Amino acid sequence: MDQKLMNVLTISFLLVLAFTPVHSSVFFDVTSAKYGGKPNTDITKALLNAWTDACASPWESTIYVPKGTYGLKGAIFVGHCKAPIELQVEGTLQAPEETGQVTSPDTWVGFRYLNRLTLSGGGTFDGRGALSWKQNDCNTNKNCKSRVVNIRFDFVNDTIIKDITSLDSKNFHFNVFACNNITFQHATITAPGDSVNTDGIHIARSTMVTVANTSIGTGDDCISLGDGTSQLKFTNVTCGPGHGISIGSLGGHRDEQPVTGVIIKNVTFNSTQNGARIKTWPGSYGGLVSDIHYEDIIMVNVSNPIIIDQEYCPWNLCNKKIPSKVKISNVSFKNIKGTSTTPLAVNFICSWSVPCENVEISGIDLTYTGHKGFISSQCSNVKLATIANVTKALACGNYSPASKNHTEAHSPEISRSENQTVSKNQTETVAGNRNEPARVDQRKYRRLLMTSSGPESDDRFLRVTSSAPNNRSTCGWLQPRAIVQLLRGFWLPLHGWF
Ligand SMILES: *[C@@H]1O[C@H](CO)[C@@H](O)[C@H](O)[C@H]1NC(C)=O
Ligand SMILES: *[C@@H]1O[C@H](CO)[C@@H](O)[C@H](O)[C@H]1NC(C)=O
Ligand SMILES: *[C@@H]1O[C@H](CO)[C@@H](O)[C@H](O)[C@H]1NC(C)=O
Ligand SMILES: *[C@@H]1O[C@H](CO)[C@@H](O)[C@H](O)[C@H]1NC(C)=O
Ligand SMILES: *[C@@H]1O[C@H](CO)[C@@H](O)[C@H](O)[C@H]1NC(C)=O
Ligand SMILES: *[C@@H]1O[C@H](CO)[C@@H](O)[C@H](O)[C@H]1NC(C)=O
Ligand SMILES: *[C@@H]1O[C@H](CO)[C@@H](O)[C@H](O)[C@H]1NC(C)=O
Ligand SMILES: *[C@@H]1O[C@H](CO)[C@@H](O)[C@H](O)[C@H]1NC(C)=O
Ligand SMILES: *[C@@H]1O[C@H](CO)[C@@H](O)[C@H](O)[C@H]1NC(C)=O
Repeated sequence: MDQKLMNVLTISFLLVLAFTPVHSSVFFDVTSAKYGGKPNTDITKALLNAWTDACASPWESTIYVPKGTYGLKGAIFVGHCKAPIELQVEGTLQAPEETGQVTSPDTWVGFRYLNRLTLSGGGTFDGRGALSWKQNDCNTNKNCKSRVVNIRFDFVNDTIIKDITSLDSKNFHFNVFACNNITFQHATITAPGDSVNTDGIHIARSTMVTVANTSIGTGDDCISLGDGTSQLKFTNVTCGPGHGISIGSLGGHRDEQPVTGVIIKNVTFNSTQNGARIKTWPGSYGGLVSDIHYEDIIMVNVSNPIIIDQEYCPWNLCNKKIPSKVKISNVSFKNIKGTSTTPLAVNFICSWSVPCENVEISGIDLTYTGHKGFISSQCSNVKLATIANVTKALACGNYSPASKNHTEAHSPEISRSENQTVSKNQTETVAGNRNEPARVDQRKYRRLLMTSSGPESDDRFLRVTSSAPNNRSTCGWLQPRAIVQLLRGFWLPLHGWF
């Protein structure tokens, strides 16, 4: 190539650069003449055509859905695409009411095999689930039909979901599977408290998922974690109504991967069935849960504020006599305030075959709002607990009321059997790792364990200094040296990601 031609090419190249706005992105308006979408009509085709163009674009692109209400039978947006895509939805997209009318049997809107996606715009994905909750027979029929998730992300990386509302999903609102680095920012997830299986965000086999500044109120878990999840952070989230934030259930399937590195901070639970929860199946496969930290939590009118349940056995689908094989360790519950609607506010039912290890509870300030006894706690099979700045009653059963006579307080059986039973018509999702919500009906805890309890104690800042060596039904594993560990902080920083 001669020098002159080179110069011409260089100059042309520079000219092209000069006239290309740096942040230009290609804009695909679904209501433009090209795509023909119109408010109050179905825009399935328009949206999919716009996606095809955006995905083929070598430049960043925006697909735009202006204000207005549109029907959408269902859309699965598949990569790989050439450049980042933003789907900016200002309007409201509505699903068909009938499950059978949705294009795919398990997904209303899906995103697959994508990098650098942004879902934004302030709009609403309205799953119109009311009919489907009524028809939901999943608690009696294992092959039930109601599996249409509002929005699924499968194999998606480096993605932001912001200023989006998911409303009245037929099933889960968001399902995140096999994804890396996904941030939910300022999302709103809403369904009635009595809607069925409408989990807010279910995450499995994924890393680096953040949920921030988000409000979730549904008929099931606000956020639930399946296996193979790590480096997760949930902050400034409000949860309620719903079943709380739950790690698990785990142990229900072979070859589950660990759940590790989860920070749940500055979360408010309001009128939820559970607050901070970890649950595993008894008679289960092995598994590992570690580095789970609930911190700066407010409980308002919550039934089971702090609970580790390794005998989670809804439907009696399992044999509780065989212990869970899922190992839970390095878990903390710190600075948790508010109100409990049942007396048993701190409840650790760990596996006797693999006890929970390094469980810290500190700064727990919960009050019981009912009249069936006094606030209480119980721990079974917890090894190395660290307890500090917790009232006697919530100090994990490791308090023997030597000088006081708390007769009432020692009848926990009554409160347990009454309060740990979820009413018959409530159902709950088993957050498994197969993306397949299973149905659960009532659950009961049969174990009647010794607990510690007492009237609202004025004895704050209790330091547990002795264990109860002969009392296996309480924290028999508790060891004094663990308390010292509290003052040092006993776990390693979380991989430096946060
Ligand atoms: C997402 O990231 C994972 C891990 O880095 C990678 O294996 C996968 O190919 C990525 N997905 C896409 C769609 O690029
Ligand atoms: C996560 O994704 C966001 C949005 O694409 C990106 O800006 C950020 O750099 C990614 N973070 C990492 C650690 O890859
Ligand atoms: C949440 O909101 C706060 C304050 O508005 C902001 O600083 C923070 O970056 C937001 N979090 C995320 C992940 O966007
Ligand atoms: C917390 O989230 C709410 C939205 O749910 C937002 O309005 C508020 O600004 C956030 N606060 C902070 C400090 O991030
Ligand atoms: C914590 O969350 C509450 C609402 O749940 C919000 O009002 C507050 O600003 C948040 N604080 C921080 C530091 O994010
Ligand atoms: C809890 O929810 C109720 C009813 O929605 C609401 O009135 C109240 O302000 C909420 N409380 C907190 C502390 O968020
Ligand atoms: C407390 O929560 C229950 C649901 O668990 C709800 O029915 C009730 O209205 C709530 N009470 C208040 C005062 O918010
Ligand atoms: C004890 O816990 C309460 C919350 O329950 C907290 O406000 C207080 O700062 C804690 N005190 C110490 C000394 O850690
Ligand atoms: C729990 O923390 C201890 C002490 O920091 C550490 O040695 C151990 O490896 C951790 N366990 C797991 C399973 O991460």
